[in-house]
Amino acid sequence: MSKVSSAFPAPKPVDRLIVALDVPDVRAAEAMVAQLGDAVTFYKIGLELTYGNGMGLARDLIQSGKQVFLDLKLHDIPNTVARATEQVADMGARFLTVHAYPQTMKAARSGLGDSALQLLAVTVMTSYDDQDLAEAGYGMGVKELVARRAKQAEAAGIHGLILSAEEVTSMRALLRKDMLLVTPGIRPAGSDVADQKRIMTPARAIQAGADYLVIGRPVTQHADPRASAQAIVAEIADCG
Ligand code: C5P
Repeated sequence: MSKVSSAFPAPKPVDRLIVALDVPDVRAAEAMVAQLGDAVTFYKIGLELTYGNGMGLARDLIQSGKQVFLDLKLHDIPNTVARATEQVADMGARFLTVHAYPQTMKAARSGLGDSALQLLAVTVMTSYDDQDLAEAGYGMGVKELVARRAKQAEAAGIHGLILSAEEVTSMRALLRKDMLLVTPGIRPAGSDVADQKRIMTPARAIQAGADYLVIGRPVTQHADPRASAQAIVAEIADCG
């Protein structure tokens, strides 16, 4: 198994909330970041915003002292994956997602150099069920493939996994202790579930063993985003 060094100290409660900037353009994202101020230190930028000039925003956020999670879900031939990872490492991002194919994960790992970038593997997309996997040519169901890929991620020296809060407990038991578990699908008590199917409150996800919570709409579509973020951070702090 590859050894993964942990360059980062244990995160403070505020650093365990990653706000998903799922907004259509940079201007809306900048307005949200300004409104959230020091209540949020960590942002996730996904494909929509990346293709809407989001890479410039990512650089600005890093320059201003925020941490950035680029959710780009890389998957290509090894040379391309390694070089793309190098670019993301050079810009100073903290997390980057890759699909959990062994070849892809090893290539991304080789692109890290001695940067502080940490890789998160996406095992099986949560939109996939057993039937979708069969249709795509896989001979196993979601549960089995998630466990298999999680172990392969660990063996490839990947730093962490994206997974639903429901999977945290079983993965904690399966994987080495310092594997980072990052969970979307979080809903503070009383907030709108929207399209998420398997949800957990911030406190329950942290208690189950999640390291970081990725939360979008409960913060960004709240009447008072800053107050919502502060309440989530307080809930995380209460678990510690
Ligand atoms: O608004 P909400 O809190 O549901 O946002 C969750 C974020 O996490 C979104 O950016 C979504 O794309 C992402 N995500 C997810 N489920 C996954 C992987 C990523 O909701 N399995």
